[in-house]
Amino acid sequence: MASAVHVEPLPRAEGSEVAFGATVTNVDVENLTDADFEVLHKALFTHQVLVIKNQSHASPRAQYALTQRFDPTAGGSYGHGATLDAKRSVLHPDLKTIPHQPQVQVIGHGFVAEYEGLRDVRLRHPHHRTFHDTVIPDEDDLECTRFYRWHIDAALYGLAPPVATTLLAVRVPAGRTQTLRYDDGSGDEMRVPLGTTAFADGEATYDLLSDADKAFARSTRVEYAPHPYIWMSPAKSRSTGLGLVSQGRELPASDLPPVDPAAVQVLPMCWRNPVTGRLALQIHPSAVRRLHLADGSVLDDLEKVRDIVYRLQRPGIAPARVYAHDWEEGDFVIFHNRGVLHSVVGAFAEDEVRLFRQCNIAGSAMPQGPEVAAAA
Ligand SMILES: [Fe+2]
Repeated sequence: MASAVHVEPLPRAEGSEVAFGATVTNVDVENLTDADFEVLHKALFTHQVLVIKNQSHASPRAQYALTQRFDPTAGGSYGHGATLDAKRSVLHPDLKTIPHQPQVQVIGHGFVAEYEGLRDVRLRHPHHRTFHDTVIPDEDDLECTRFYRWHIDAALYGLAPPVATTLLAVRVPAGRTQTLRYDDGSGDEMRVPLGTTAFADGEATYDLLSDADKAFARSTRVEYAPHPYIWMSPAKSRSTGLGLVSQGRELPASDLPPVDPAAVQVLPMCWRNPVTGRLALQIHPSAVRRLHLADGSVLDDLEKVRDIVYRLQRPGIAPARVYAHDWEEGDFVIFHNRGVLHSVVGAFAEDEVRLFRQCNIAGSAMPQGPEVAAAA
């Protein structure tokens, strides 16, 4: 039976250059047919971010099942595995696991008395003051915000990056807007809904590069730090949330858990979309450690590595290129984690309660690089 699922590209606001994202209607994630999933699968790799409205009823089990379907041979463990247990990880405070569906995490802000088997949970929306090197002054904090941390959902050590991440907005506080500041001397800023999730299209970021930079990006591989989220824990971010400043604060190997050299990841700088064949510039800017260049040399100078990556990625997060989703309760968003970067945004007041469910699953294989299709 043909699917009735309808996919409509997001309307483009005036002045916007966002050319990704779609709204999906006539679909129930709790009761998906094979034909429905086929439409969602093609749409995800075509549009990168899918917004499905009115899915408040979706169970954690259905969320997990749909997420897993995008990578059916994956083992089914959460994208970060058990690494979040490390108390020193920068990710640790932000996620609570649903006891009966451990691949699904609860994230948000404020106190929740009971939800899906979790009791007396105090959620904390990450605030840039805990991570950025410079901060917005307290008196501007209610009105102004920043991108907290641009990233790919990935352990980047051992486990392969998840293909897709799903987010369900269970509770969303009444809407207001904030001014998002880049504070990098560019004067860039954008008006965003409170607590938006911001997306930047890695394929558009690649397309923006000069021919020389494209050739560099296609032939360079990125080595990630072992135990990256522990390694980076004392370090601070640039004001754009796009990678770290270099102050020598990263933990030395002697302060990390034991490192298995086989778990260290050296991934292509460009990842190929398995459906469209397009390349995305996909680098986790905070976790990058070294660059492996086409001539076989390895660039080890961390500050230089970060400056190169920043120069390549910064155009892709310009205000006109960022999609800032305006969350409503029941929104179920699926994003192609191997084709976009995303960031938490915003600062909530203590009484603004927000409750989301997030799911992703460690990939069954590493992302394809540029060379795969070239050989086909
Ligand atoms: Fe994330």
